[in-house]
This record gives sequence, C-alpha cells and structure tokens, in this order.
Amino acid sequence: MGRDSLHARLRTATGPAHQALEDSLDWRARVATLPGYRTLLARLHGFHAAWEPVIGAELADDAFLAPRRRLALLAADLQHLGLSPDAVAALPLPMLGGREGPILRGPAAATGALYVLEGSTLGGKVIGRHIADLHGLSGAGLAYYRAHGPAAGAMWATLRARLETFADDPAAEAVLTGAAVATFAAMRAWLSPAPEGAAGP
Ligand code: HEM
Repeated sequence: MGRDSLHARLRTATGPAHQALEDSLDWRARVATLPGYRTLLARLHGFHAAWEPVIGAELADDAFLAPRRRLALLAADLQHLGLSPDAVAALPLPMLGGREGPILRGPAAATGALYVLEGSTLGGKVIGRHIADLHGLSGAGLAYYRAHGPAAGAMWATLRARLETFADDPAAEAVLTGAAVATFAAMRAWLSPAPEGAAGP
C-alpha cells in the first residue's frame, strides 16, 4: 500500500468509524453462546439482504461482486444453527431508503460500501477462529466468518486495486469515502446489541 494510495486515505478517513463499530459491537459477549451467535448472524443477514442488491445494482459488475456476496453464507449458517428457510426469509431488514437503509448512487458509492463489507472479512478471521474454538464449528455454521478462506489475500488485493481506479477523480473519491463512512455508521446502528429483553430470532 503506497503512502498516497486512495486506500491509505480511505483507511484513515474511516478509522474512527471502524473503531466505533468495533467498540459497540461487543462481539465476544454476543458469540459466547450459540443462541447469541445466531442472533448476531440474523442481524448480519438483514444487513446483507438490504445492501447486497443495492451494491449490485449500482456497481453493475456482477463478475466482481458475485464471489463477494455473503448473504447465502449467512442463510446456510443460520439453517445449520436451526432456523428454517422460512424463518431466515422472514428475518428483519434495515428500512430500505430509510434512515438505516442503503442510499447509494453509482459505482463509486457502491465501491465504498463494498470496501466496508469486504473489510469485515479481515476482522472476521479473528472472530471466526474464536467461534470455531468456542463452539467446535468448522465449515458448517461458520461459512460467513470463513468468508474467502485461503483466497482472502487475493480477494482483498483485487478490492484494493479496484479502489485505486477512482484515485484520479476527487469527486468520485469523495463519494466513495462518504459511502464507506455511511455504511460503517449504518452497520453500527443495525448491529448494536438489542436492548435488554428484546426478542431474538
Ligand atoms: C462488522 C463489523 C466490521 C466491519 C464492517 C469492519 C471493517 C473493516 C475494514 C473495512 C477493514 C479494512 C481496513 C483497511 O483498509 O485496511 C478492516 C480491517 C480490520 N478489522 Fe475490521 N471491521 C469490523 C469488525 C471488526 C472487529 C470486531 C474486529 C476485531 C476483531 C476487527 C478487526 C480488524 C482488523 C484486525 C483489521 C486489519 C486486518 C488486516 O490488515 O489484515 N474488525 N475492518
């Protein structure tokens, strides 16, 4: 990563949003039990169900997006953990076009949002290893956090290279960065632990 890369600037610009999300996620406590882990996956399912189609429409590059979609992995994990396909389909989504829903226009914005979703696979490696050790899961039930597996490095490298295609266009970079920050904030709002007594899936 060069000092002047768009990626370097983006990482700096989104650093506080990443930290805020990490702080409020409370993931260790939430995955400590299998029902808690399942509830976290259910929230992630809602987020991906709302954002992946919008990213797909605005990016208009299925070849690039297809291997990065993780909604089906979430559905498979949730079914492994006991939810029926109907129950998975009925899980709540962030409001579309509402305060928490995705509003992305064009490929730069879609790329900024995708940066956040793909970046979550990096921290996800730590979380996945923790869940595997704690609950004895290997493949089934852990597909979302295993994500790209051994291809992770290559997948992240091509995402970073894609970011740099916007580097000569300051307006596009501003849109991309704004979308990434907004995606972090929306994720934080959607994934923050439910208030005491709220129903799980
Ligand atoms: C769902 C919530 C999360 C999202 C959306 C997210 C997003 C991201 C993004 C976009 C990056 C890339 C930063 C870069 O440009 O280099 C990243 C990296 C990273 N995240 Fe997160 N993150 C999340 C949760 C976490 C949590 C809970 C942890 C703590 C275990 C974590 C630890 C890390 C680490 C260690 C890296 C750097 C990995 C590396 O450089 O190899 N993240 N994350």
